[in-house]
Amino acid sequence: MDEINVKTILSGVQPTGILTIGNYIGAIQNWKLLENEYKCIYPIVDLHSLTVRQDPKQFKDLCISMLAQYLACGLDAKKNILFFQSHVRQHTELAWLLSCHTYLGELSRMTQFKEKSEKHRDNINAGLFTYPILQAADILLYQACKVPVGEDQKQHLELARDIAIRFNNIYGKTFVVPEPHVPQMGARIMSLQEPSNKMSKSDTNINGTIFLLDSDKVTLKKIKRAVTDNKNRISYNDNQLGIKNLMTIYMTLTKESIREIEEKYTDKGYGAFKNDLAEIVVENLRPVREKYAELMDNKDYLVSIYKDGAEKAGEIAENTMKKVRDNIGLIK
Ligand code: TYM
Repeated sequence: MDEINVKTILSGVQPTGILTIGNYIGAIQNWKLLENEYKCIYPIVDLHSLTVRQDPKQFKDLCISMLAQYLACGLDAKKNILFFQSHVRQHTELAWLLSCHTYLGELSRMTQFKEKSEKHRDNINAGLFTYPILQAADILLYQACKVPVGEDQKQHLELARDIAIRFNNIYGKTFVVPEPHVPQMGARIMSLQEPSNKMSKSDTNINGTIFLLDSDKVTLKKIKRAVTDNKNRISYNDNQLGIKNLMTIYMTLTKESIREIEEKYTDKGYGAFKNDLAEIVVENLRPVREKYAELMDNKDYLVSIYKDGAEKAGEIAENTMKKVRDNIGLIK
């Protein structure tokens, strides 16, 4: 790779649990496609996860587990920079500077803030409100041009762009203005139990979520129990949200087109379709689970990855921060 002209990609996941098939299809599967073309930076955004109370011991385990999950999904540690956000202090430094250039009105419009404050009424902390600023800092710090995410992150990305443009207008060109990179299909995988809601790591109804580390048996059961309708017709439309969601999962994992899938199941019912889908999902997840178990047995390797990642990320981050501090008028 020609290091000088290589463009940068950045994305992150909160280490709040086991990755879902939604995270995989909406984000991580697409990260892998970019690793040969771009410089790819993937922090595990531990600081973002603290807007919700975490048990300290369990949280450490979750963070290490997330790194192993990244690698088990096939991210190559030699081609991607993998690290913990909290290990590169420039993230929080830049977040403060950007917060002085972000308006309360902008933050109050964020859907995720509204949803999370509704869900955690007893803990509507300031971090929950300023969360998108830290996310903007993650992205701008590395001069990322593209941010591969699912649909739910588009609004945060718009804000990051607005902040970057505002900053550049005031102080001169400092940041690359990032573009969201959202897949055409699979950008919003829905809950298997409530197909009008997004599939989420923290859903209390675990039957709605396929976790990447679920056993074959559990995956099979969850797919068989997935909510559908009484039409018994495999068709991709908004009146059959359950089936539409299952077809999206099918399509993104097999790369078959919607038309091909519809044709294949013209004379077959939901039972046959669900059986085949379960098989496809299980075949995709089994190697991830096996690789994960291997990696978790090799903690020294994981430590070497995140240390090396933080060192590389820190250098890039510091280069940006030198420019930011200077442009903003802070004495060296
Ligand atoms: P998080 O941890 O909620 O989700 C990680 C990634 O998975 C995508 N995703 C989905 N895609 C399709 N269907 C779903 N049901 C689904 N659920 C989640 C998300 O869009 C995301 O791409 N705020 C971010 C983390 C973050 C970040 C960043 C992302 C912090 N800093 C900088 C990009 C760049 C979040 O909570 O992701």
